[in-house]
Amino acid sequence: MARSPVEAPQHVLDLLNKLHKLSIEQEARLKGDKPRFVSTDSSFDDLMRDKLIALDEDKCHFIYQLIRTTGATNVIEAGTSFGISTIYLALAVGENKKSLNSGDGRKSKPGVIATENEPSKAAKARQHWAECGPEVEAEIDLREGNLLETLATNVAQDVDLLLLDIWTPLALPTLKLVQSKLRPGAVILVDHTLTAADGYKELLAYFEAPNSGFHSLTLPYSGGLEMTVYNPRK
Ligand SMILES: C[S@@+](CC[C@H](N)C(=O)[O-])C[C@H]1O[C@@H](n2cnc3c(N)ncnc32)[C@H](O)[C@@H]1O
Repeated sequence: MARSPVEAPQHVLDLLNKLHKLSIEQEARLKGDKPRFVSTDSSFDDLMRDKLIALDEDKCHFIYQLIRTTGATNVIEAGTSFGISTIYLALAVGENKKSLNSGDGRKSKPGVIATENEPSKAAKARQHWAECGPEVEAEIDLREGNLLETLATNVAQDVDLLLLDIWTPLALPTLKLVQSKLRPGAVILVDHTLTAADGYKELLAYFEAPNSGFHSLTLPYSGGLEMTVYNPRK
């Protein structure tokens, strides 16, 4: 188990540990017949329906730390699955709110918008968040259905961080959908930009276009984790 920077009750840390293990075991069994995050067709969705495909634990730890150090309280997750990465987002945002209010962050509106289009996965995610307790549960607004529809409305301004952990063809359309809501200095994180570079070709070109306002760095986590900062010119 990796050393964890996460501040959470022991039962939450134990649950995260258990779910990461399960996800790794599933991925090991899948190797060979799984094209990673490349398709939006129904056979791919069928294959992935019962898979956790959680973000690696060390990446989750990094994102938790990033949220804590930037003070983010307004986060969007594209691709939630069984809700593992979402637990980290909710814990970090909850801690930030506590420091800001020096009170109980639970009274404010949820700081994390999560998105999942598979009803069985959404149900599992809700179950995991309930196991964590109200500190996590209350921080998450799960939008069920196609994120290109569920993120089209009701997204507040000044999004601090967007996590793109979604099938590659959806990454750029999702970014474009919420771009106007990103605050200057917002961070966009994208998983597997090295191993899935082909699938992310359009997204990466969009980041790199002159005057795009996006400034990108590939962090050397497994498969590459893209960390992009949005600073549009005025
Ligand atoms: C890589 S997984 C997310 C893993 C999750 N972030 C974690 O670390 O536990 C991507 C998820 O996106 C979901 N998804 C795919 N297409 C979607 C869409 N159009 N709208 C919402 N969710 C979608 C898939 O069902 C899948 O569960």
